[in-house]
Amino acid sequence: MGKLIIDGGKTVSGEICVQGAKNAVLPILAATVMADGESVIKNCPRLRDVDKTTLVLERLGCGVKREGDAVIVDTRDMHDCEICEDLMREMRSSIIFLGAIISRCKRAVVSMPGGCPIGLRPIDLHLKALRQMGVEIREEHGYIKCSAPRLTGGNIHLDFPSVGATENIMLAGVCASGTTTISNAAREPEIVDLGNFLNKMGANVRGMGTSVITIEGVEKLESVEYTIMPDRIVAATYLAASAITGGEICLTKVNPQDMGAMLYVLSEMGVRLHCERDRIIQTAPERLKSVHTVRTMPYPGFPTDIQSPFMSLAAMAQGTSVFIETIFENRFQHIDELSRMGADIKVEGRSAVVRGVNSLEGANVVARELRGGAALVVAALAASGTTTIGGTEFIDRGYENIEKYLTSCGAKIRRE
Ligand code: UD1
Repeated sequence: MGKLIIDGGKTVSGEICVQGAKNAVLPILAATVMADGESVIKNCPRLRDVDKTTLVLERLGCGVKREGDAVIVDTRDMHDCEICEDLMREMRSSIIFLGAIISRCKRAVVSMPGGCPIGLRPIDLHLKALRQMGVEIREEHGYIKCSAPRLTGGNIHLDFPSVGATENIMLAGVCASGTTTISNAAREPEIVDLGNFLNKMGANVRGMGTSVITIEGVEKLESVEYTIMPDRIVAATYLAASAITGGEICLTKVNPQDMGAMLYVLSEMGVRLHCERDRIIQTAPERLKSVHTVRTMPYPGFPTDIQSPFMSLAAMAQGTSVFIETIFENRFQHIDELSRMGADIKVEGRSAVVRGVNSLEGANVVARELRGGAALVVAALAASGTTTIGGTEFIDRGYENIEKYLTSCGAKIRRE
C-alpha cells in the first residue's frame, strides 16, 4: 500500500492544467466497442480506473495502446462479450459496458458488482430499463446474463436520475430500433460528453444535459477521434487545496460553467474567483468562512464527489458548517481520519456538523475511498507538521499524479 507524505503549512499557489474527466472517459472508452474500427480518445487521464477499463477492453479482444495523452482502441478483433468477476469487483463502473456490449454483440455476461466502500450502489435501475428495451436478463450464480436479439426503444422513466443507468440506456438505445426516451435522466456534464461522443460516431441523441433525453436508433456507428472534457471534480479539489492554504491558483483547461454549485460554495467561504471560458483564477482569504449548509444532490446540485474535500475546508474555517449527504450512505468515512488530525465533526445519520478549528495537526491517516483520500490530502496541506496518508491506490483511481501537480504549486508532498 503506497503512502503520500505531506509537510503541511506551505502555500499552494501557481497554475495547474486540469486532467480529462474520469467519469467521462470510462463510459466513452466503453462506447468505443459499438463501432468496428479504431477510436482515438484524447485527453485521457493516466488513472488506475482508466487502466482497468483498458484491461476490460483487452479481455474483450480489442487492441489498446496509449500514445501521449490519447488512448487508441481497435475493436476490429473484439470476440468476447463477457466481463469476468475480478474486473467487475475491482471497478464497479465496468457495469457501463453492459449497454455497449449488448448493443454490439446482442448478448453480454457480467458478474454482479460487489459491495463498495461508499455504499450499496445497486444496479436495479440499469436492469429494469434494459428489460424494458427487450433485453432478457437472468441473474445466475452471481452473474448477469443478457441476451437481446432485437433491442427496441421505449419510454423509460428513471425513479432517480442515476448517472450510470442514464449512460447504460443511452448506449443500449443508440442502435436500438425506434425511439428511446429517458425521462428524469441524469443531467451531469459527463452525460453530455458521452452524448457528444456518440453523436460524433453517428448516433442521434438529443436533450443531453436536460432531464429528457431522446435517442433515435441508427443502423451503424463509426469509430472517431474525440477529446475528453476536463475533470470538474479534480478542478474543484485543486481549488480546495489552494484555498485551505490561503494561496492563489490559476486552473487552465477547465469548464467553469460545469462547476456552478462548487464555485458558489467556495465564494460563500470567502474566496475570490475570476472565471473565463476555460480558466479559473482563485484568490483565497487569510481564513475561510464556514458555509451554512452543503447538501449533495444530482447535477446541477452540489456533487457528492466533492463533499469530502470541501469538508476539509470547513474543518478549518471560521464558524460552523453543515454537510448533508443524500446520494451515497457511506460517504463520511474520511471524518474519523480528519478527527485524528484535530477536526471537530459530529455525525448524525447523513448529516455532519463541522465546527471550524484554528489549526489541524499532521497525523497518520488512511484513505478508504477515492474522494475521502483527496479530502485528507487537502487537510494535510494546511495541517501543522507531517501527515502520512495510506491507501494512495484509492487516490490514484481518480487523480493523475497528484503529488506532481501540488509540488509544482509549492506543496511539500512525496510518495513512498
Ligand atoms: C457516478 C459517478 C460517481 C458519482 C455518482 C453520483 C462514474 C464512473 N461515477 O456513479 O463518481 O459519485 O455518479 O454523481 O461516473 N442507484 C440505485 N439503483 C441503480 C443505480 C443507482 O438505487 O440502479 C442509486 C445509488 O445507490 C446512489 C444513487 O442512485 O444512491 C446515485 O447513483 P448513480 O448516479 O448511479 O452513480 P454512479 O453512476 O454509480
